Amino acid sequence: MRHEFSEAYRLKRVPPYIFAVVDQMKAEIQRKGVDTIDLSLGSPDLKPPQKVIDKLKEALDRNDVHCYSRFDGAIEKEFRKEIANWYERKFGVTLNPDKEIIPVIGSKEGLAHFALGIINSEDIVIVPSPTYPAHFNGVIVSGGIVYYVPLLEENNFVLDFKKIDPGILKLAKILIVNYPHNPTTAVVRREFYEELVDFFKDKDIIIVSDITYTELVYEDDFEPCSILQVKGAKDFCIEFYTLSKSYSMAGWRSGFAAGNPKLIEILKKTKSYIDFGIFRAIQLASIEALNNCDDYIEDLKNTYLERIKTFVEGLNRAGWRVEMPKSTYYVWAKIPLKFSALTSLEFTKVLMEETGVVCAPGSGFGEYGEGFVRFAMVQDKQRIKEAVVRITRFLSRED
Ligand SMILES: Cc1ncc(COP(=O)(O)O)c(C=O)c1O
Repeated sequence: MRHEFSEAYRLKRVPPYIFAVVDQMKAEIQRKGVDTIDLSLGSPDLKPPQKVIDKLKEALDRNDVHCYSRFDGAIEKEFRKEIANWYERKFGVTLNPDKEIIPVIGSKEGLAHFALGIINSEDIVIVPSPTYPAHFNGVIVSGGIVYYVPLLEENNFVLDFKKIDPGILKLAKILIVNYPHNPTTAVVRREFYEELVDFFKDKDIIIVSDITYTELVYEDDFEPCSILQVKGAKDFCIEFYTLSKSYSMAGWRSGFAAGNPKLIEILKKTKSYIDFGIFRAIQLASIEALNNCDDYIEDLKNTYLERIKTFVEGLNRAGWRVEMPKSTYYVWAKIPLKFSALTSLEFTKVLMEETGVVCAPGSGFGEYGEGFVRFAMVQDKQRIKEAVVRITRFLSRED
């Protein structure tokens, strides 16, 4: 019998994952022998803190880490307690570890399963664009409808939530906010969350906040901030954080959600049908990261900043005007005028073919990402210098 398999309709509603498309293009040019410098995916190249690695090694020898993880287990309780300590220490926010916190297998998993657990068919979710792709793809796969609101350069890519169509505000179920922002690197301070919570407190809308990069900000006197610092936020907000970036633990898959207990309960219920949580040895190592590795983050920021400066100053010297990022390890660059007739995907392809430098096309971050590309500083300084040399040569070529 000849089988004709077909994906579910809900999968047909999402385009191919942008990084898979770029990877395919990359594989093609690698086959031609081109040496590629991959700055597309935001996957940290650095080693996690040694203390965390040692803790994992030690944990592997324990007898009680190899079984399924359970919500009411001792290690799980300890991890949630440490997450509550982290919120208290970083933000002065007090959380109930058993009702207002749930670990997730990386925030991508958490965001997607939260969407699956809360969205009914054709519920509207307001998603500022550009944004991290899981913010909209997770909604679409769950049957929801995405309503994009633009993050504009003239507004420093800060969401102007008061300008959202009042008709949409009446219909929407969720608003997603992500600061410090991937891909634009925009940053907001606590006052933004105060105004946001005040504006939404009487509306029937859940706010999902994603603070993945709150520890990676390069602005002077910036204090990491959380929406949960605002009085009343816990009534209708849920926030996601991950150890992937601050501790270079992307492959370990460890993060958490915190906030309104009903929303946490919904995510917990959804996950209980799908996964068994984080490997217990990784939970123990994650406790070490949250509790004992602030010094690592300081060094990490210096490393990224050095790479960022090398790249941004190099591109500017080559005549490609790009701004210094305010946060993250991304550089969000407008496609040079000379190439502005190309879509961001076409430009990504040309740049890759001509230089071997691989970036992420802005269109992958939603409709308002078009016209830009994103470079992730996830290669060492030497490779970044090499990328600058190749891009300079490419841009200075006469037609
Ligand atoms: C804004 C944002 N949220 C969430 C994630 C996902 O992180 P994790 O590794 O925890 O799934 C990323 C990863 O790039 C991100 O940029």
